[in-house]
Amino acid sequence: MKHLLATDGLDPALATAVLDTADELKHTLLGREVKKLPTLRGRTVITLFYENSTRTRVSFEIAGKWMSADVINVSASSSSVNKGESLRDTALTLAAAGADCVIVRHPASGAAQRLSEWLAEPGTSVVNAGDGTHEHPTQALLDAATLRERLGSLKDRRIAIVGDVLHSRVARSNIHLLAALGAEVVLVAPPTLLPYGVESLPVTVSHDLDAELPAVDAVMMLRVQAERMHGGFFPSAREYSIAYGLSERRQKLLPDHAVVLHPGPMLRGMEIASAVADSPASAITEQVRNGVHVRMAVLYHLLASEGATA
Ligand code: CP
Repeated sequence: MKHLLATDGLDPALATAVLDTADELKHTLLGREVKKLPTLRGRTVITLFYENSTRTRVSFEIAGKWMSADVINVSASSSSVNKGESLRDTALTLAAAGADCVIVRHPASGAAQRLSEWLAEPGTSVVNAGDGTHEHPTQALLDAATLRERLGSLKDRRIAIVGDVLHSRVARSNIHLLAALGAEVVLVAPPTLLPYGVESLPVTVSHDLDAELPAVDAVMMLRVQAERMHGGFFPSAREYSIAYGLSERRQKLLPDHAVVLHPGPMLRGMEIASAVADSPASAITEQVRNGVHVRMAVLYHLLASEGATA
């Protein structure tokens, strides 16, 4: 693997190999006081974030450090981006300085793909850590790792993705990855928060959360992305919460084995009740924990495995 830009088109065998590596790394490190492995000693990983992040940036930094890579964090607000430097010039500067891998988050859909084209010559790997409303592939991989742990396999499992699908790169990456791994995906959202062309995605669509919950193995709640709703938020926050929030009453409609996910950051009380987020069915903390092992696995497949230059 040379880059990780999207789950759309990602070979299911490669995705499974990354998940298996993450699982192996998790079990290797379990209970160890010192987590460091020597695998990426001498390699340089740079995170380049043009949007805010807690989970993705921190877990990539920990993942790189646990594999002994040198990790450098660049945020747009404190770099020469603030003086007007372009994404292309910034990326070429990082590659010239010695980056083996650039992990990029950017508000423009397609930014990671463009970066991979600009960095083809220096041969620097690119990971998409979220580009606009397009994709967030490592989030989908960590979600799949968490679901595999809780449910055993994704094959023929029914997963509901609920809420602001329109603006969600997490939803888009999950739709493609879950379908590729054999799961059935149902999108549950108001018509105003579904993307144009939803019919072409490998999903079914519902607007009735209560009707869907009894028949799912997992429910993935999405963040409402107010910062991308330039024309206002319709339905209102109150209407949204009533129709699509995962309340304690709604949680009782789920089968006993069903898993509750949220990529974070979550709006407690609006998207999901605190009691549900903190319940035994919730795997939200496990998602964050698995994020480190999945990102270690991604760095391994990009920089250290036999197929790293493929
Ligand atoms: N899920 C996710 O991408 O979280 P951050 O924005 O905190 O990285």
